[in-house]
Amino acid sequence: MIAPAFPPSSPPAHAVPAERLPELLRRMPKAELHIHIEGSLEPELMFEMARRNDVQLPYASVDALRTAYDFDNLQSFLDIYYAGASVLLHEQDFYDMCWAYLERARADNVRRAEIFFDPQTHTARGVPMRTVIDGLHRACEDARATLGVDAALILCFLRHLSEEEAFETLEAALPLRDRFIGVGLDSSEVGHPPEKFARVFARCRELGLHLVAHAGEEGPPAYVWSALDVLRVERIDHGVQSSKDPALMQRLAQDRMPLTVCPLSNLKLCVFPQLAQHNIRELLDAGLAVTVNSDDPAYFGGYLNTNYLEIFAATGMDAGHAYRLARNSFEASFADEASRARWIGELDACFASFA
Ligand code: HPA
Ligand code: ZN
Repeated sequence: MIAPAFPPSSPPAHAVPAERLPELLRRMPKAELHIHIEGSLEPELMFEMARRNDVQLPYASVDALRTAYDFDNLQSFLDIYYAGASVLLHEQDFYDMCWAYLERARADNVRRAEIFFDPQTHTARGVPMRTVIDGLHRACEDARATLGVDAALILCFLRHLSEEEAFETLEAALPLRDRFIGVGLDSSEVGHPPEKFARVFARCRELGLHLVAHAGEEGPPAYVWSALDVLRVERIDHGVQSSKDPALMQRLAQDRMPLTVCPLSNLKLCVFPQLAQHNIRELLDAGLAVTVNSDDPAYFGGYLNTNYLEIFAATGMDAGHAYRLARNSFEASFADEASRARWIGELDACFASFA
């Protein structure tokens, strides 16, 4: 759980001239806590897998697919995202997808990645749970050994499906319990409130799994309240609708509850009409433990550093904000205490070298 102290010590913002801010954003060490691995599958790799696995995609070419990435809301994205995942069949496919993401993460100076995966999207097509988890896990192991990226997996339940199906998914994954650190809740939010999954989250809590949930992406503040009080999550994914409820804002600030905010996702899914109108700066300045993340980078126009660069350019945040966001990302991660302290030390050294 994130430390209650706020604000964390940060370097004076004037120490970093505005023209060097992009360089600082790129170079600073950071954690990514909200990335759906199926949302990192680039069209080129998707078409290659479709060819090698003899899967028919409903698009003629990479360009035709990219043209379809014009979304009105979450559901219009999810329809294409689930179609894209249909090319993933073999352990090597899951490995290749995850490895490609981890190489991109390394290039963005990501030290720690906590990666969501959606097993039900694959088991529903007859892919065994073990195939999914083994491929992803092997890529994470190789990344730790050769890229210096510390990666861990979080199993997400699809909230448009039933709680009974979530329990079946948990059962199928439990023989591989040592290969994921927690569970999350994703897919179509409105109409599927967190409390629908109260029992399965309670069971996961008993099992010692970390708990997170998407809430307040498109759904109301009430869904953030129930993720906190019914599911008892340790982080809220998105949570941007919380700013509509002052009592909720106070609760989130008081608990230093991390919010994994995804600026380009919110833009592409029309949660905010323009990045300049995004409320991340308001949330951060209100004392919330906000982090920056890419969500589904192959679909939303950029990986983690692009999210940082574009949201800073649009909102005028400064080096002090950059420090707080990167530090929050480490403090909110589920990595062990010694690793988090080491990365925060690297972050401090990075800022000191810019002063
Ligand atoms: N929201 C909900 N479910 C998802 C998302 C998202 O942004 N990305 C992939 N699954
Ligand atoms: Zn998400």
